[in-house]
Amino acid sequence: MERYDAIILGAGGAGLMCAAQAAALGARVIVIDHAEKPGKKILISGGGRCNFTNTGTAPERFISDNPHFAKSALGRYTADDFIDLVRRHGIAFHEKTLGQLFCDGSARQIVAMLIAECTRAGARIRTGTEITSVEHADGLFRVNATLAAPNLVIATGGPSIPKMGATGFAYDLARRFGLGIVTPRPALVPLTLGDGEKLFRGLSGVATDTIARAGGMAFREASLFTHRGLSGPAILQISSYWQDGAAISLNLLPDLAPDWLQAAKRAAPKSRLRAALAQHLPNRLAEALATRLDPGRELGNVGDKDLAAIAAQLGDWPFTPTGSEGFAKAEVTRGGVDTAGLSSKTMAAKSLPGLFVIGEAADVTGWLGGYNFQWAWSSGWAAGQAIGARI
Ligand code: FDA
Repeated sequence: MERYDAIILGAGGAGLMCAAQAAALGARVIVIDHAEKPGKKILISGGGRCNFTNTGTAPERFISDNPHFAKSALGRYTADDFIDLVRRHGIAFHEKTLGQLFCDGSARQIVAMLIAECTRAGARIRTGTEITSVEHADGLFRVNATLAAPNLVIATGGPSIPKMGATGFAYDLARRFGLGIVTPRPALVPLTLGDGEKLFRGLSGVATDTIARAGGMAFREASLFTHRGLSGPAILQISSYWQDGAAISLNLLPDLAPDWLQAAKRAAPKSRLRAALAQHLPNRLAEALATRLDPGRELGNVGDKDLAAIAAQLGDWPFTPTGSEGFAKAEVTRGGVDTAGLSSKTMAAKSLPGLFVIGEAADVTGWLGGYNFQWAWSSGWAAGQAIGARI
């Protein structure tokens, strides 16, 4: 039996950060993962450049059954702390938009940095290792009947993108130790539209600036029409707040005043709605909307009240998605190990202080834009500190 102070299950962002922190505080740490290499999701993230944090990180930008849970970890290991680490490793980065920080070079630099931090502190990483058994007795966790430690960290993520090796393993294990699970569902995921919306499904590839609204939230970013429905950052963001069966509203012309069509009529009474829309929207979308809204009259022949009603509809266009593209396409999982059973300071199970749950496995889901990695870093750091304090 190999003895350690902590066994960390999962060599993703959260597990590697936790390992580096705990080992830096003197803990003997091993990380095990069934994948052949660590940090696979980091490598594919941000189009290969890893959107590793967001300068706008704030607890309100995370979803959880307990909206206060993420505050402590996010407050103690901040976006600035991670930026300092990135700088210390000489990794060049830039802000793309909305506070989103990306590597100038490659996401491989972030994985290399985390591995270097683990190696420097003496944490071991063992990949290509299936977890065949986890037992707990006499104050020790035993994994695969070969590793033993008084601390066990569940950092195996959520079930989004199973073809990347993602599993529901964290939930099964957490349940065995008496922790609750908030129903996992796909988040940051494209939404599907039914046959009634064939007109829009025919617009595959068209993107436009929008405000998407659902569940009391609003996001101003691009929406993209796909052959299955809707995607793009605004839709991915709102998907995390969308409930099955509910409608989402798209403001398709967020910069225009409510009377813009009356003004367009006065400027060009002989023009038609399609032409007026095409001045502000991609042609194919303008055509589809005009087909839905207008019998083809010249604007000069349409009353101001009707024009105002059309403008209002364009500002609040309802879509009722039939569903989402599921875990196969979801960037993250909403829900997970119920934070009610965890300490927000240490990520340890209240009922079993040597057991920790970090990263996406826990019921904390960030917005699109680097927030989910920041949660991985912050929660991993918090657990690493707590393990260091326990040895
Ligand atoms: P993660 O899933 O990263 O790690 C879990 C580890 O556990 C994996 O290495 C896995 O192999 C291992 N594992 C799972 N089950 C196991 C088992 N049964 N046995 C052994 N090992 C097991 N976020 C962000 O902030 N910025 C971004 O740019 C992106 N981009 C992005 C792109 C794509 C395509 C996806 C799918 C996701 C993102 N994300 C993102 C989200 C981000 O990747 C995610 O939130 C974090 O990787 C979560 O980190 P964790 O360490 O918690 O889990």
